[in-house]
Amino acid sequence: MSNLVVVGAQWGDEGKGKVVDFLANTAQVVVRFQGGPNAGHTVYWRSKKYTFHQIPSGLLHRQTRGVIGCGCVIDPYRLNEELAVLSAGRESFFRRVMIDRRAHIILPFHKELDRLHEEQLGEKKIGTTGQGIGPAYQDKFARVGIRAGDLLNEDVFNDKLRRNVAAANFRLMECYKVEPISFKELSTALWKTTRPLVAMIGDGTLFIEKALRGGKRVLFEGAQGTHLDIDLGSYPFVTTSSTVVAGAASGSGISPLWLEEAVGVAKAYTTRVGAGPFPSELPEEEAGRLRELGGEYGATTGRPRRCGWFDAGLVRASVRYNHLSSLILTKLDVLDSFAEIKICVGYRYQGQRLKEFDPFFAQELEPEFITLPGWRESTKTSRSYKDLPLRARRYIAKIADLISCPVALVSVGSSREEIVPVEKEKLKWLK
Ligand code: GDP
Ligand code: IMO
Ligand code: MG
Repeated sequence: MSNLVVVGAQWGDEGKGKVVDFLANTAQVVVRFQGGPNAGHTVYWRSKKYTFHQIPSGLLHRQTRGVIGCGCVIDPYRLNEELAVLSAGRESFFRRVMIDRRAHIILPFHKELDRLHEEQLGEKKIGTTGQGIGPAYQDKFARVGIRAGDLLNEDVFNDKLRRNVAAANFRLMECYKVEPISFKELSTALWKTTRPLVAMIGDGTLFIEKALRGGKRVLFEGAQGTHLDIDLGSYPFVTTSSTVVAGAASGSGISPLWLEEAVGVAKAYTTRVGAGPFPSELPEEEAGRLRELGGEYGATTGRPRRCGWFDAGLVRASVRYNHLSSLILTKLDVLDSFAEIKICVGYRYQGQRLKEFDPFFAQELEPEFITLPGWRESTKTSRSYKDLPLRARRYIAKIADLISCPVALVSVGSSREEIVPVEKEKLKWLK
């Protein structure tokens, strides 16, 4: 296989960064196709921690080129910071990443509007990452957004920015009763900030298409997770982009007919940051243990993540929406010390049994659990399937059975080597 889409199969933070870094070993191009700095993808390499927000996570492999696709929204201030951190002491990342000229720009007032909107929602807030994602995509769909390509011409840029600032000021003053922003100050600061990025702007769609045509190995890296998808997720507690496999085509600007394989990433349990339904969520006393063992604090915001048992109904829905041919199960090691482990196998809804998570009725789904015995030994040093404790193998097999999808690999630690093949042959990218 010469291309693979990697998507989160839960509510984000499944360990996509670690998985993409592992799989990018043989990739030539790695593409981010949606979202922006709301993503926080963690990679450990040679004992050093890297957190990717806007740059594709596969780029620690020197042979790779990265694309920030047309479906993304870009915060230029944060992108500069990220590039500077990543480039310190290594060859420049500026030369290895292309920004599609169609990608939209997150402006400082998008962040301000994100914050104010959340404040206004009060108890009903979504719990966004506060990165201005929703307001930036709103402007995109309202057809008034500023795109990366607009940064190439000062007159075009200023003309669009002037109109955007006027519209934003109307909202800031009329809806939220706060101070307006100054066009002049913003224009000067933004122009200066975006200069280092200009050389990176190009036609990402063409670049990706050429790579695919030339038989190069292309990895599409999803951000967030399937159940945060704008259409298929637990709306309105979702992000604003298309986080599923379908988004990989539109967000890269290629035909979906190019896509060959899709793999989902899921944790061996479930987490969620922000508000919204979570049927298998544990009460705080019990969630705390998973949170501490799994280090479940947001990579972007540092917020404590809500924790619960593995929800097979949730991942089963992801298998269907994304047509996944295999799953990579991460953080199995976090369950090493548990005497008993539960799995949510489905739900009761109005006297009926449901096998698949349904976001429409999510608040009313009553989870049904089975309990499996824990293995109570370390899996951290396991490198082959037979190294895993028998009960851990049974846990993995049960999950594969419940979600009707093979588990190709399990991850037993945050570094690249801590990975165990299960049904590896089901992930054709590895052949
Ligand atoms: P992403 O957004 O999907 O890339 O996930 P995050 O990076 O936000 O969160 C996943 C966290 O789990 C990071 O701190 C990773 O270093 C860590 N991690 C990934 N895989 C494993 C694993 O198999 N075991 C353990 N213990 N940690 C892991
Ligand atoms: P990665 O790529 C987990 C959540 C937020 C909030 C909702 C909307 O690291 O898996 P937004 O700022 O996007 O408007 O917030 O989506 N969210 C994430 N949760 N991981 C992420 O990214 C997330 N990106 C957004 O917490 O509930
Ligand atoms: Mg994350």
